[in-house]
Amino acid sequence: MASKFIDDKSYKNLEIGAGCGDFGSTYHPKCYLTDGDSDLNSRCKENSVHHFCQGNKLPWGENRFEIVIMCNPYLYGFKDYEDSVPLLNEIIRVLKNNGKLIVLGRATNPYCIGYRINETVNKVNIPNVTLIYNEENINSTHEYSNYVFKRMDNSDTIPDKRYTIQIDKV
Ligand SMILES: C[S@@+](CC[C@H](N)C(=O)[O-])C[C@H]1O[C@@H](n2cnc3c(N)ncnc32)[C@H](O)[C@@H]1O
Repeated sequence: MASKFIDDKSYKNLEIGAGCGDFGSTYHPKCYLTDGDSDLNSRCKENSVHHFCQGNKLPWGENRFEIVIMCNPYLYGFKDYEDSVPLLNEIIRVLKNNGKLIVLGRATNPYCIGYRINETVNKVNIPNVTLIYNEENINSTHEYSNYVFKRMDNSDTIPDKRYTIQIDKV
């Protein structure tokens, strides 16, 4: 489905690593769905990805989105600081003032463990940018009923954590 890059400004939100799913466009429309794997069709029966791009190299300008979503990140995210700091810097770059990053995942997922996300927040140092970190337990089968979350191997998973990073650009 992905096509030539044309930026439609009516899309206010962005999902990174959308994979075979459409979480962002289901719960935070209008949302661009992206993924780093341009060979997604070999894993998914179908996908709704608009653009293939890496989370740490997004083809949009500064201050473009209100919400950026990472849903069950895997093989990218907050596992190692050498990856997570450039990733978060890139997400902050494309978020507007008062924008937010939402990360959903299982507490056991090494790519989105709370203390590593919080440590990454503490390592980012951008003049005039303040980050506010929040972590909550969620019941995703209730809150996101009917949505089937997927692992890399396409098996089902149930996120039990939601992390939010609010971005204030003064
Ligand atoms: C576990 S799947 C999550 C799929 C979907 N978000 C869900 O929850 O059902 C992780 C996705 O992240 C993508 N991914 C891996 N590395 C990436 C990167 N560096 N940038 C963007 N996406 C990446 C993978 O291709 C995969 O589709």
